[in-house]
Amino acid sequence: MASDTLGTTLTRHVFEQQKGHPQATGELTGILNQIALASKIMSRKVNRAGLADVLGYTGEENVQGEEVRRLDELANDVFIAAFDHLGHFCVMASEEVDDAIPIPDQYQCGHYSIAFDPLDGSSNIDANVSVGTIFAIHHKVSSGPRGENQDLLQCGTELVAAGYVVYGSSTMLVLSTGRGVDGFTLDPEIGEFLLSHPGIRIPERGKIYSCNEGNYPYWSEGVRRYIDYIKTPDKESGRPYSTRYIGSMVADIHRTLLYGGIFMYPADTKKNPDKAAPKLRLLYECSPMAFLLENAGGAASTGRGRVLEVTPEGLHQRVPFFGGSLLNVRELEEFVERYDAK
Ligand code: AHG
Ligand code: MN
Ligand code: MN
Repeated sequence: MASDTLGTTLTRHVFEQQKGHPQATGELTGILNQIALASKIMSRKVNRAGLADVLGYTGEENVQGEEVRRLDELANDVFIAAFDHLGHFCVMASEEVDDAIPIPDQYQCGHYSIAFDPLDGSSNIDANVSVGTIFAIHHKVSSGPRGENQDLLQCGTELVAAGYVVYGSSTMLVLSTGRGVDGFTLDPEIGEFLLSHPGIRIPERGKIYSCNEGNYPYWSEGVRRYIDYIKTPDKESGRPYSTRYIGSMVADIHRTLLYGGIFMYPADTKKNPDKAAPKLRLLYECSPMAFLLENAGGAASTGRGRVLEVTPEGLHQRVPFFGGSLLNVRELEEFVERYDAK
């Protein structure tokens, strides 16, 4: 009765889920509350971006060789400040920081590591297009008192929780702790995330494909043939598919989760004709999104296997990504298997 009246808050939802785990310490609830707090701060910053003089570039390049936007830097600072003193994390990694971020000596170390993309899709921000934050949480596995790189360099199969926040026409937090996927919408009047999309399931097949098709000439034969195939008219199977591409992974995955279809960022030879290179980062983009998609009944593949099974070798490692409805992803894999050299 009470929850009907109040709505289910994120805190309550996580608390109820944790009740099913007798060994739960409440730490995850604390972590998710803090993610929610930092997201609320970012939601406000993004909403007021045009007024608050935070658009444009800082004039610096990040570890990826990309120009850093002022809002990227701000988001990075907000999330680190929200996480470093909690006592729940032992080490952190951010897209915007070259090395692992230690917990300052004056703070306690906890049982979890976190990797995050503080602001995803930031190249869109000046045009008022949806952007987001992505996070991935693992257990501490190192034995020393403080965290180490190995706490971050874990396969997606070992994720404890992952999710994203999309700062769109409304702000939504989409989360999985390994038991399905739930979506929460920020009610700006009360400043709480309320459960709005319980138990999200992605359709088994979708009729939308999402990629930067300008890169077509630089893709492998298998990927190009797959794209040709889904654009070839066939009334019975609903082809050609529609194309939708926002250019913010969070927003593109969010739509894919809700409507089905396939989102792709294949490796391409645009920069180096001799070697195809992927763009999206494993630890804080591909792996958490793969975890959400699989938990919603979908799939995420590098073209040759589960993204979640890739063993990370570096904090900023990149992998090809094909994620979405199960049958669409399987079909793409068949094309790669048939036409691309191993
Ligand atoms: P970020 O803004 O965190 O650097 O990520 C950008 C990523 C991702 O959001 C999106 O899917 C992709 O870059 C878009 O790349 P293109 O502009 O090459 O299409
Ligand atoms: Mn990103
Ligand atoms: Mn980013």
